[in-house]
Amino acid sequence: MAQIIDGKQIATDIKTSLKVEAERLFPLVGRRAFLTVVLVGDDPASRSYTRGKIKACEFVGIDSDLLEFPSSVSEEELLKAIERLNEDDKVDGILVQLPLPAHISKQKVIDAICREKDVDGFHPLNVGRLDQGYDCISPCTPKGIMRLINSTGVETEGKIAVVVGRSNIVGKPVAKLLLQANCTLIQTHSHTRDLDSITRMADILVVAVGKPGLIKGNMVKKGAVVIDVGISRCEDGLLHGDVDFESTAENASFITPVPGGVGPMTIAMLMANTLECYKKRNNIL
Ligand code: GUN
Repeated sequence: MAQIIDGKQIATDIKTSLKVEAERLFPLVGRRAFLTVVLVGDDPASRSYTRGKIKACEFVGIDSDLLEFPSSVSEEELLKAIERLNEDDKVDGILVQLPLPAHISKQKVIDAICREKDVDGFHPLNVGRLDQGYDCISPCTPKGIMRLINSTGVETEGKIAVVVGRSNIVGKPVAKLLLQANCTLIQTHSHTRDLDSITRMADILVVAVGKPGLIKGNMVKKGAVVIDVGISRCEDGLLHGDVDFESTAENASFITPVPGGVGPMTIAMLMANTLECYKKRNNIL
């Protein structure tokens, strides 16, 4: 039976140590770190995520602002607001909550955020630097996933890691981080044939597709570490991951729950990235 990786507790521990770090940095810089979260429209999930991000800032001791726009906001107006945030010296981090309404180009918005304030690590310059293994801001969810894997004490070197999903937010960047951790990497996606036989090869299985219950216990090798990134609200009104927890826990050595696994880590890593931008912008190494 698998051990549960308690992402909620690990995230709380990380935020507690970031709070100490923020206290230490405050007198050196003369002001607190500052994160602006931009929310467009009123999607309930996005609203709930942004609330969680602002609450975490309060816990860690990072000043924050939630900048809200109606879903009818024009692309031009949103880009102008980002430009103002880029130029505002007290703002260390800018996060535009995704998804955006269809009439706004996600790529234009991401490109508009200056690289030094890109706490999501989504700007092409940060993406490219991650790809090359250079110093950069890594995206929050992939970074959190690596922390969860490391928390198990399982060695990554030479292990077969299978990533199910190839999104820009999770699948692609976590694949890069697993490669940097010297895993042998296989990436699968919606066109992959015979998914079962590939997932059964995984020593480390990361699933990020948003299809509730896609991975069943018989698709998982005995002793695998299973990280479930999916979070979907289903007809039963509950949140479900991409992994069928009950059957998979019988085979895995470690498994993340949903909720309480990857989700809280994304927010903890956002706090870490905001402090990293704050330190870099203030020449604190
Ligand atoms: N929407 C879902 N995940 C994310 C994330 O990590 N960052 C942003 N900005 N939007 C998201």
